[in-house]
Amino acid sequence: MPSLPPLHELPAWAALARHQGECAATTLAALFAADPDRGRRYRFEAAGLLVDLAKTHLTPATLGRLGDLARATGVEAWRDRMFAGEPINESEGRAVLHVALRDRSGRSYRVDGEEVGPRIDAALAQMATLVDEVHGCKRRGAGGRPFENVLHLGIGGSELGPALLVEALAAHHTGGLGLHFVANVDGHALAPRLAALDPATTLVLVASKTFSTEETRKNAETAAAWLRHGGGTVERQMVAITARPDAARAFGLAPDNILPLWDWVGGRTSLWSAVGLPIALAVGTANFRALLAGAARLDEHFRTAPFEFNVPMLLGLLEVWYTDFWGAGAHAVVPYDERLRRLPAYLQQLEMESNGKAARRDGSPVGVATAPIVFGEPGTNGQHAFFQLLHQSERLIPVDVLLVARPDHDLPGHHDALLANGLAQTQALAFGQSDAVTHQALTAAGRSAEDIARLLPQRRFPGNRPATTILLDRLDPASLGALLALYEHKVFVAGAVWGLNSYDQWGVELGKVLARRLAPAFEGDTPPPDLDSSTAGLLAELLARR
Ligand code: F6P
Repeated sequence: MPSLPPLHELPAWAALARHQGECAATTLAALFAADPDRGRRYRFEAAGLLVDLAKTHLTPATLGRLGDLARATGVEAWRDRMFAGEPINESEGRAVLHVALRDRSGRSYRVDGEEVGPRIDAALAQMATLVDEVHGCKRRGAGGRPFENVLHLGIGGSELGPALLVEALAAHHTGGLGLHFVANVDGHALAPRLAALDPATTLVLVASKTFSTEETRKNAETAAAWLRHGGGTVERQMVAITARPDAARAFGLAPDNILPLWDWVGGRTSLWSAVGLPIALAVGTANFRALLAGAARLDEHFRTAPFEFNVPMLLGLLEVWYTDFWGAGAHAVVPYDERLRRLPAYLQQLEMESNGKAARRDGSPVGVATAPIVFGEPGTNGQHAFFQLLHQSERLIPVDVLLVARPDHDLPGHHDALLANGLAQTQALAFGQSDAVTHQALTAAGRSAEDIARLLPQRRFPGNRPATTILLDRLDPASLGALLALYEHKVFVAGAVWGLNSYDQWGVELGKVLARRLAPAFEGDTPPPDLDSSTAGLLAELLARR
């Protein structure tokens, strides 16, 4: 593999560094004052999503330089290689073709020369049959009783996307099943679920690409014992989704109850595969297909839209711009919709497991900060927690505000208040409040000159903090498909600029190995002899207290 030039040595990088000095001398308020059309100019559309970048520091000059950086780092070429099924996950020798899962247009996608479309169609058909059978009570639980609940066991990419979507699409649920998710190996997660569910009427899904993930295996073992103890059977009531069917069979699953996954689908982009089975069970096959279609529309936009209108391209480049040139170490995601409660957690994996890396694909150091720390809460809750820091700390933290125009409830006034708050926060972040206005308010409140001198800095709203607003017409399968695909491609673009392989995750391995070494000590074995004094001491304390 040809070695990558250090990012600092790219003329486009140096030009951006110089350019940031100029940009820092102006403010968002000044940019708006200079261009009355700014709101319209930087409002984009992609697959039905409206994305407002006007309250970021984007200018024609910045756009031009970010374009130079994208060209210098070959972002479009990497995108095309991904869509072409090339093994761009080089450290694992795998293609990255989640886009094929949602493109049912008949376009050809090949991995190692083999067309993958027929496999995807077969898996979708298997999912559809299963959904029909469960909804139509042709597939039943113990004693011939219809299924009432689905318990999904999986972690990371095998849980975050499905759990997010099942909750977000509550208004589209059909079939009457209760959907439950358990990821953590912590028995406090599984025990209350098992206590609340009836083993005779529960279908258990085990989603694990590798079928070796400790948490999921442990939970599956416990759930299997629970099924048997309650008069159910693993053969009839457990379904696996995995790229290792042999391991699932060895676990006791019936071959017909194993749905496929493939090495060319990354864990954190697997919700579009049979890992999305709980979504299909919750909302039905037609809605699951609408989800895929929404994502496919966004893929097409990413593949074909010219650079300056290509929204994931712009978002990815803005991420690099703020992270490396403005020193933003974090990124807040604030969905003004309770149903998107789990979006921040989903994006944490997507962003941080993909791009939280210091070594580039050629092994050279990336030399700059990469994935921001992603955090967030639904609005308006976040306003009463971390927004103080967003508005007044020295840190610059770009914020994504998500607004859904039309709610799926009819409680009067609530949605108006929600949207007004979301929109107001983007204003407050971008423009703040001038000291003159604050001064006037304090004077009007009768404060002394001495008080004002002390209070003014504490009540200062400097503004000039970037916000991206993403507006969805409704929260429906198509808009959510597009939204998640937008974020996936944004992460791809930023990773490509940084020269990272965004599709491996070696950083999660060491902890797993060390946990396996420590585990026997909790069952009475002698602890590893080479433990450091902190770990040995804590282990002894834990064992003594049990
Ligand atoms: O945490 C590492 C990881 O491999 C994630 O990338 C993945 O989504 C998760 O574990 C679950 O993996 P699996 O689907 O193989 O159980």
